Amino acid sequence: MCGIFAYTGKKGKDAGGVLLDGLLSLEYRGYDSAGIFVPESGSVRTPGAVAELRKKMPKDFKGKSGIAHLRWATHGEPTEKNAHPHRSCDGEIWVVHNGIIENFKELKAKLVKAGHTFSSDTDTEVLTHLVEEHLKNQSAEGGSSSGGKGFEKAALAALNEVRGTYGIALQYKKEPDRIIAARMGSPIVLGLGDGEHFIASDPTPILPHTRKVVFLEDGEVAVISPDEHRIFKLDSTKVKRDATDIDWSAEAAQKGGYEHFMLKEIMEGPEVVENTLRGRLIPEKGLAKLGGLETVAKKLETIERIIVVACGTASYASLVGEYMLEEYAGIPVEVELGSEFRYRKSVINERTAVLAISQSGETADTLEALREGKRRGALTLGIVNAVGSTIARETDAGVYNHAGPEVSVASTKAFLSQLTALALFTIFLGRQRGMTAAQGKEIARALKELPKKIQAVLDTKEKIEKLAKKYAHSRDFLYIGRKYNYPIAYEGAIKLKEISYIHAEGCGAGEMKHGPIAMIDENFPTMAIAPKDSMYEKMISNIHEIKARKGPVIAVATEGDKEITKLVDDVMYVPETLEMLSPILNVVPLQLFAYYFAKEKGLNVDRPRNLAKSVTVE
Ligand code: M6R
Repeated sequence: MCGIFAYTGKKGKDAGGVLLDGLLSLEYRGYDSAGIFVPESGSVRTPGAVAELRKKMPKDFKGKSGIAHLRWATHGEPTEKNAHPHRSCDGEIWVVHNGIIENFKELKAKLVKAGHTFSSDTDTEVLTHLVEEHLKNQSAEGGSSSGGKGFEKAALAALNEVRGTYGIALQYKKEPDRIIAARMGSPIVLGLGDGEHFIASDPTPILPHTRKVVFLEDGEVAVISPDEHRIFKLDSTKVKRDATDIDWSAEAAQKGGYEHFMLKEIMEGPEVVENTLRGRLIPEKGLAKLGGLETVAKKLETIERIIVVACGTASYASLVGEYMLEEYAGIPVEVELGSEFRYRKSVINERTAVLAISQSGETADTLEALREGKRRGALTLGIVNAVGSTIARETDAGVYNHAGPEVSVASTKAFLSQLTALALFTIFLGRQRGMTAAQGKEIARALKELPKKIQAVLDTKEKIEKLAKKYAHSRDFLYIGRKYNYPIAYEGAIKLKEISYIHAEGCGAGEMKHGPIAMIDENFPTMAIAPKDSMYEKMISNIHEIKARKGPVIAVATEGDKEITKLVDDVMYVPETLEMLSPILNVVPLQLFAYYFAKEKGLNVDRPRNLAKSVTVE
């Protein structure tokens, strides 16, 4: 959840500036407090985001190396004293940490008994005191606490004592050139530059400096210095790993002229769908070519059931996928929230595939659900956006979204790419299981037409903006849809609530009369997703039920449907497509509506309160 960045170099760059810039690009990971440590200048910490940190840093805050952090609180309030980096009693050992040290209470009690004084309420701080304690013990045994491998040994000993999750960067003031990183459950990536090295939670802050990165695996430790990096395991055995070249440009993660990342990312929809499809369709044969599934293609023929695990927006994409796969590939599919699946005894065998869907590839609940599936013998698959992320690496096979970096906390373009990847997966699996070439061709053709149809919806954005302004006073919203668009009701609602902080409820339209309709009155608008598909007549009946109770209705309808205007208060039109693909179009006006609604309220659209982009803790 938090963001980590560390730098060591001999190129004359100012570490303070490098670290601050890096933190800025990591702000989507967490932003309730920030801090930095540079051995030559000391530390600065503050509640708030990077702008606050910058204000507090003295002009002469300079050095050649350092560690920095953005926090999203788990243990302890987001105050200055709880902000990272944390220090040992003597101020020699400093750490930044992402994750949770589960046995921190017992470790802290032991350390306090041994004379250590803690200055924060965090679980993290035990790490510095543990390293300090091991260094002390080394000197007592006649070893040196500086130079040689004393610091590394002490860090390894400390890491072997902690239980829980961590991605850390540790620095020792006496050896400012060297920084130690370690990973257990929280992502860590090393950046390999010329005369400089980096440690970060993800590649974003590293990209302006180098494209060569190495992803650490769980249970690995790395030491970086300006000229080299070394990786080893917790038991000290050496690890050799080739660097990966990351092809995301640093600019791709910038706003590209839009006021917010969210709008930029919504506007990228057509390009994103094209990228997800690129090279993966053989339209004339009605086939999908998914290179990432080749190694398991034979095994997939024997699979009898798919369990999709995901959280939040990715779980709503999964629900659409369930309908696609059952209708066109004839395979039983269940969707489970990662947070539920990991704790219950679902029936799994070697003929089950567990498919994890995640933009970040780091969501803790999804990852643990995937691991649980693996432990129980399932084939594990992924639909993941972040290349090299933990879920991507731990699955047996998978499909990358190719949506590019998504910065805004509210997921938009990744959702479109998840649905597109699921449609490809449906063709892939369907053609193994009796889907006709004609059906495959029909879906392939419709997929190819999606980018220009999404663009047509985006071109109506001014109209949607006006509509959002019209309804901006509303405190509640009901979102309803059926069949393929039932999950879109949930997705529309989560978009609105997470960035506007108002009550928005998703509901299968048929369920309305089992409870939610009681809320409807003239002040409670409903967003009805009512395309001209197999559920149209049913949706119209549901809209009548709302109108009979004086509820205002905004419809998402198919272009050319004039009839619906007689019934509802406002309409947002989308072009026609295959029913199974209609969610990819219908969600776009809902994303835009949520965006303009929150903007009208003057809220921080890209960084909503209490939320983080990547939820890497339970
Ligand atoms: O990175 P993931 O796709 O695994 O993230 C899952 C959810 O945390 C995420 O979709 C969340 O619900 C978004 N804030 C929704 O916009």
